[in-house]
Amino acid sequence: MRVKENIILEFDEFSNDYTQDMIKCVPHYEQLVSGIVSFLPPDFKASNILDLGCGNGNLIELLIARYPDSLYTLVDASPEMLKICRERFPDTRLAFFEGYFDDYIFTADHFDLITASFSFHHINSREKESMFKKIYGALREGGIFCSSDLMIHKSNPAHPVLLEEWKEFVIGNHSDDEKWNWLMEHYNTFDQPDDLKDQLEWLQMAGFSTVHVPWNKGHWVTIQAIK
Ligand SMILES: C[S@@+](CC[C@H](N)C(=O)[O-])C[C@H]1O[C@@H](n2cnc3c(N)ncnc32)[C@H](O)[C@@H]1O
Repeated sequence: MRVKENIILEFDEFSNDYTQDMIKCVPHYEQLVSGIVSFLPPDFKASNILDLGCGNGNLIELLIARYPDSLYTLVDASPEMLKICRERFPDTRLAFFEGYFDDYIFTADHFDLITASFSFHHINSREKESMFKKIYGALREGGIFCSSDLMIHKSNPAHPVLLEEWKEFVIGNHSDDEKWNWLMEHYNTFDQPDDLKDQLEWLQMAGFSTVHVPWNKGHWVTIQAIK
């Protein structure tokens, strides 16, 4: 498996065995996706939800279970991922935007909940900072932004240790190095994770009144920010 020329083609191909690949390649994947929903305050109501980088809909499934009557807007640049997602929830009214986050026009004070599960490590520091401002503007008062992801910059001195532990996890789940080698090619080409402390700072600078970390294991983190 070779990495593709751009992220859309990459995820179009990745889409086939996506969930199993994620479980076997990303430590704590299921905990991090489900934590976006399970750490929401018990009395939190959401009637309008935006998911940025929905992929094949693993997070959407959990959100729909908790908020079956909400309106959903799903943004993703990969047509194949969106196709799978569409087919997965035939009975739910979902609005899809096929395109890059940058091209999505956010409506002010519109959403109760905005989520990003393993999608923001694909955008760089400047884009994350700008996206956090847009997200803040698009949330209603009391609305929540929640992101789960790998949160360590590649220049962080702890990054080599993260890679060693990650490699052990991936190789432990596969019979040889092939998947790890592909994953690192993908990581080096497409992934631009940022340190947790920088992301917390950018969220505060965007205006969020409460920013906290309900769950993390090392640099695998769930962030929650309340407007
Ligand atoms: C690793 S997957 C995560 C999917 C899903 N949220 C999950 O937790 O399994 C990242 C998704 O984000 C999408 N994506 C990455 N960068 C994007 C961008 N700049 N604009 C829109 N979609 C993007 C990819 O197409 C892919 O479907």
